[in-house]
Amino acid sequence: MRSVKTSLTGIKPTNTPHLGNYLGAIRPALKLAETYRSLYFIADYHALTTMRDPAALQESIYDVAATWLAAGLDPNQTILFRQSAVPEVFELSWVLSCLLATGQLERGHSYKDALAKGDVPNAGVFYYPVLMAADILLYDTDVVPVGKDQKQHVELCRDVAQRVNHVFGEDTLVVPEVHVGDAPLVPGIDGEKMSKSRGNGIPLFAPAKKLRKVVMSIKTGSESLEEPKEPEGSTVYQLCKQVSPEAAEAMATELRKGGYGWGHAKQALFEALEAELGPRRDVYQAMRADTPALDRILDQGADRARAIAHKTIGRVRHAVGISATSSADLKKTVRLKPQVG
Ligand code: TYM
Repeated sequence: MRSVKTSLTGIKPTNTPHLGNYLGAIRPALKLAETYRSLYFIADYHALTTMRDPAALQESIYDVAATWLAAGLDPNQTILFRQSAVPEVFELSWVLSCLLATGQLERGHSYKDALAKGDVPNAGVFYYPVLMAADILLYDTDVVPVGKDQKQHVELCRDVAQRVNHVFGEDTLVVPEVHVGDAPLVPGIDGEKMSKSRGNGIPLFAPAKKLRKVVMSIKTGSESLEEPKEPEGSTVYQLCKQVSPEAAEAMATELRKGGYGWGHAKQALFEALEAELGPRRDVYQAMRADTPALDRILDQGADRARAIAHKTIGRVRHAVGISATSSADLKKTVRLKPQVG
């Protein structure tokens, strides 16, 4: 019986993390890290499904690492590492892929979205959820804090873990739970889902002047200053509700009264963001500038992550019948069940 439960999540280094990443994953993950064993990693191999510029990928890896640290991750407590530093993840992903029906991957929303847009997705986009499941299962994860857009991937991970356990023995893999808040996906400045690829993000640690400019560009209604306004449904209010519920409540009261314009609401959102993130801006800049320190933290994290991964992969090899152990030992230790389906 494991006494401490594990929380794990990953961020793809495809750009500098934005407010959606922070509210959807980073902030809840740091809260969980207070009580769970925590492993938070940079999903660099996942980024290869889209990234084609090695220098930009390297820079984004450091951006993500510095973001976690500036947001409050304590590297002595939380294991922060690069996905690529633990190649056992590919070994596990192969085992998982042998237990997944291709139809499950065909239903993956990223793959389906790519097809719907008329793109010809690479095989990495198709296989993406398998690697993500391996990321989670390799570290005996109990809980995965992610934004709503990743829920389907964690559900697929649960399915395949249950199937592995059914076929090879109930104690082979830990079946994780997804941890998503009630809040909807964080909207971007255009009101659509905030996303790195859409370019509608609110930066976390940009200079205050730049941040204010981005906040002031959020799309709003065109009512006059005097008119009372309905906050629900407006992007600026949605964002504020997720950053600071208290500030959002005050904003809603003012908007409904009238004599308070969307410009005032945006200023209130900017101030709420400054209160949450402003004090960490200098920490981000200092961490981001010190790449040797980031490498040290990531390498130390990788050593700790590898130790956990070795145990899991050993257990999996044993369970499936691929192991250096003699067949006599295997018979004693592994409960082989007939394969179904
Ligand atoms: P990525 O890099 O796209 O996003 C990182 C995290 O940010 C969340 N997120 C959002 N949450 C709310 N509103 C938004 N607008 C928003 N945009 C992004 C995402 O849900 C995610 O939690 N596949 C993952 C990376 C990954 C992973 C894993 C995560 C790889 N392996 C294993 C958990 C466990 C991804 O692309 O995240």
